[in-house]
Amino acid sequence: MKISNKTILITGGTSGIGYILGKELLVKKNTVILLGRNGDRLKALEKEGFETIACDLGRQDDVEEAVLEIENQFPGLEILFNNAGVQYNYLITDTVIPLTKIRDEIEINLTGQIILTQLLIPVLARNSDSMIVNTTSGLGAFPKSDGLVYSASKAGMRSFTTGLKYALKDTNISVAEFIPPVTDTNMTAGRSENKMSPEKLVQTILPQLERGKSIVTTSQIRIFLWISFLFPGLANKILSK
Ligand SMILES: NC(=O)c1ccc[n+]([C@@H]2O[C@H](COP(=O)([O-])OP(=O)(O)OC[C@H]3O[C@@H](n4cnc5c(N)ncnc54)[C@H](OP(=O)(O)O)[C@@H]3O)[C@@H](O)[C@H]2O)c1
Repeated sequence: MKISNKTILITGGTSGIGYILGKELLVKKNTVILLGRNGDRLKALEKEGFETIACDLGRQDDVEEAVLEIENQFPGLEILFNNAGVQYNYLITDTVIPLTKIRDEIEINLTGQIILTQLLIPVLARNSDSMIVNTTSGLGAFPKSDGLVYSASKAGMRSFTTGLKYALKDTNISVAEFIPPVTDTNMTAGRSENKMSPEKLVQTILPQLERGKSIVTTSQIRIFLWISFLFPGLANKILSK
């Protein structure tokens, strides 16, 4: 699928990977709708040429209102990037965890975007060549000990994505999984390991999406997926470094 002259919604498009992806998709002459919570940030993004929708994915009424707005204003929606995410790092074994943090992480990373997807399938189905792209993580293939809830939310998103591919196989909606490597965004601020720039990542994955690959990612992550499947002990060592 050539990604130009399309109407595209990106959750988590107000910063990081989603924002850089949105900028590149604007250059390719798409209508790009960014969904996020911060009203001031959304106003500033409108000045850059984006359409915006205010929505907290942790709130079901917000998600339902966002869908109504899309149905009314953007009935030609063809591509949905479920890309929003939060990551809280703590050891579940020795930390007193605020229970709301556990709930938030699952609701933003998984539940909210599953609800959004379900409600948008009828809109996407009306157009001839549609696509859903879900952002997961290498940690969805193998969990990191100080990010168990994040890892579980991303494993859930991986499973949902695989199932969705089969559930929609006889429709005009294709489904892809996007697995970023460690990327230089707010989410990884303060982490010292090698990070890919979001610009380089977007340049790597967009041609893969256009070629119809069902998992779009870097070669480093493809190797990690095999390691986590074949040698879980080694995957654990890599993540514990
Ligand atoms: N960076 C990495 O190394 C890495 C690696 C693997 C996977 N990922 C995944 O890549 C995706 C993008 O992450 P990023 O690194 O670009 O992070 P980021 O810069 O922190 O961006 C996170 C985005 O999620 C949105 N968001 C957070 N809570 C939300 C909520 N309650 N409702 C609606 N939107 C919400 C934020 O928007 P507002 O704050 O404006 O609401 C923001 O646009 C995430 O799914 C992440 O898990 C990242």
